[in-house]
Amino acid sequence: MNDSTTTEFLTLQEIVAAARANLAPGPWGYLIGGAETETTQRRNRLALDSIAFRPRVLRDVSTVDTTSTFLGRKVRLPVLLAPIGGMESFDPAGAAAAARAAAQFGVPQMLSSVCQPGLEATAATADTVRVFQLYVRGDDDWVDDWGRRARAHGYKAFCFTVDSASYSRRERDLVGRFVKPWRAAAAAGAKFQAALSWDQVKRFRDRHDLPIILKGIATAEDAEIAVRHGVEVIYVSNHGGRQLDHGLGSAAVLPAIVAAVGGRAEVWVDGGFMRGTDVVKAIALGARCVGLGRLACLGLAAGGVAGLVRALELLEEEIRICLMLLGATSFAELTPAHLVAAPPVGEHSALSAFPLLGEDLGTA
Ligand SMILES: Cc1cc2nc3c(=O)[nH]c(=O)nc-3n(C[C@H](O)[C@H](O)[C@H](O)COP(=O)(O)O)c2cc1C
Repeated sequence: MNDSTTTEFLTLQEIVAAARANLAPGPWGYLIGGAETETTQRRNRLALDSIAFRPRVLRDVSTVDTTSTFLGRKVRLPVLLAPIGGMESFDPAGAAAAARAAAQFGVPQMLSSVCQPGLEATAATADTVRVFQLYVRGDDDWVDDWGRRARAHGYKAFCFTVDSASYSRRERDLVGRFVKPWRAAAAAGAKFQAALSWDQVKRFRDRHDLPIILKGIATAEDAEIAVRHGVEVIYVSNHGGRQLDHGLGSAAVLPAIVAAVGGRAEVWVDGGFMRGTDVVKAIALGARCVGLGRLACLGLAAGGVAGLVRALELLEEEIRICLMLLGATSFAELTPAHLVAAPPVGEHSALSAFPLLGEDLGTA
């Protein structure tokens, strides 16, 4: 799809509709699905939809700054492209397409170790702010090798995903008999991930000169332990509801973790963040950065690099409008006082942020 086609997307809803039209049922179910009953996944949206805004007025918002910093570097929005295994299901170029979009728009990318074309080739694709995420599939020497390669190829931090001691039961994939080509390779050595403990975090800390991100922290207790291990980034996540079922929504656990961390580390979050208002809520709750998982894949599936860039442009526009209507000229002005608990409206699912989807959006 060329640039002129993707600029015809005037809403994120159209991008999601186009992605659905473009993807075969297998990749679509893989993208949209969660674990077992998908309760955690729905709670991600429920938690966000249970927060309302308290707008302030008459504050001269004629100039609004939606930029932020990411590990000390300026970025266009306080978001990152979350790590996605098998991204090549949504764009043949996989993580290379995401890297191009990230560089073109100006947001960071976190590369998954189970995504093509891999650590070196993705780094060579585009000059973007990048961090690396590892699923541990080997012994300490194996991990050290990834750490060295990540640093040598310009990755600014190293992430262990810690919510994946076992691969979960993704029932949409199972029912659809969707065979993920990369799963066999990713499954080999899974016992190393299962055996992961705080000792390995300490070991990595002692041996590598790279900030550490722990992705999949869901309690204040673990956030506290992580801070005591010198971890630079506490990444609050339930893997988009794809791992432990019957967990809480990410936005629901975020405030307690922000309070526990108390500024001693950065707090990032993901899980159900699909709209500009969602991002604004996370920052007002004290997160520094919001991970986009499914939304990034939907952009790629809708129109490749241009589709993802367009999704980010629309997100930016939603964020800008939200800040103005809240009476804030930058993210720095947001506080929890801009938010209040409120009864949620409607249904909650992976796609419930796009209520027009059932209607003919003219994109199919
Ligand atoms: C298709 C897909 C593949 C994913 N692969 C990985 C992965 O390889 N590593 C990882 O840490 N998280 C992975 N995740 C989780 C995302 O990084 C992120 O935590 C989650 O998607 C955020 O929720 P959201 O999709 O609602 O934005 C994956 C998510 C999806 C949707």
